[in-house]
Amino acid sequence: EKGNHRHFMEKEIYEQPEAISHTFAHYMDFVAKTVRPVAQPIDFASIDGLKIAACGTAFLAGHIGKTWFERYARLPVEIDIASEFRYREMPMTDREAALFISQSGETADTLASLRYCKENGLKIGAIVNVQESTIAREADVVFPTLAGPEIGVASTKAFTSQLAVFASLAILAGRARNTLTLEQESEMIQAATHAPRIVGSVLHAIQPQLEELSRELSKYHNVLYLGRGTSYTLAMEGALKLKEISYIHAEAYAAGELKHGPIALIDENMPVIVIAPHDRHFDKTMSNMQEVAARGGKIIFITDEAGAAASSMKTLSTVALPNVDEFIAPLVFSIPVQLLAYHTAVFMGTDVDQPRNLAKSVTVE
Ligand code: F6R
Repeated sequence: EKGNHRHFMEKEIYEQPEAISHTFAHYMDFVAKTVRPVAQPIDFASIDGLKIAACGTAFLAGHIGKTWFERYARLPVEIDIASEFRYREMPMTDREAALFISQSGETADTLASLRYCKENGLKIGAIVNVQESTIAREADVVFPTLAGPEIGVASTKAFTSQLAVFASLAILAGRARNTLTLEQESEMIQAATHAPRIVGSVLHAIQPQLEELSRELSKYHNVLYLGRGTSYTLAMEGALKLKEISYIHAEAYAAGELKHGPIALIDENMPVIVIAPHDRHFDKTMSNMQEVAARGGKIIFITDEAGAAASSMKTLSTVALPNVDEFIAPLVFSIPVQLLAYHTAVFMGTDVDQPRNLAKSVTVE
């Protein structure tokens, strides 16, 4: 039931503090400040590569997972969209493991990719929300997301719960591979414990501003999203959410790619959503934002307080989230991206929970 929410999607957006907190609590021992040893038979210490495949939003969770595994565990990750992955005929060795991500656990291309890796002798992990699903049954180890049932076609709480699983597994792998110190591990777990509360306060703090902004956004036919690093992934997630529920055409680019083509699109009819917390990428993204501003693009700047203070550029709107640890920033920055898509769709009057042409579970190729 929707309770006092207008749509399942809205309800599920607001369930995220709980979903993230349950998921972290499953993987992390907050007292010992360690991640529980949940990965067997995948041995993170001995593998020399990880393959990841999934579809849509689940793929984007894997995209952030890749960044974390590489940064914190020095584990090389190969990632692809499942419908491409399964036909790539890439070399595989039994010194690799594979991870598949699926809310429903029934997505046809993801399942086919899993079977393909299994035939090649890889150990298989599956991050799933539906534990009785086919993908869960066929995996060697299941990493559950504890998001509860997700009804809205557009994935929200499953996505942030998938991020919580990846955050936990990256710490576990870093531990196994001796690439994280105990101190780093405990700091990351500390950051994770704060995430649900921060997500909850951000949800309430920014909702009115984003609802207002969605009125403006709904006037346009095209929207560009820009970001770097994990914010590039969130740009892709933002564009996917906006197009699937509001039917406004949206595209995401890595901010550094702007000058290699898409900058030609920029004029006063092109809103550009720039996602840039004050992190290692900030200055570079600011110079890209400057290029947009110089061409009259309408900027919606999604940043944190430090980022807002560091920029004096004229924007249509600046959304300033609290400053948070870089590790949990993708969880927190998912919120404005989801709310903007949600409110724009509500404003446009589309069927938010059941967008046209889409199904919750895609069991055909
Ligand atoms: C987008 C969305 C889809 C799914 C994709 C994979 O909001 O929900 O892109 O993420 O169809 O579905 P699962 O996770 O069930 O494999």
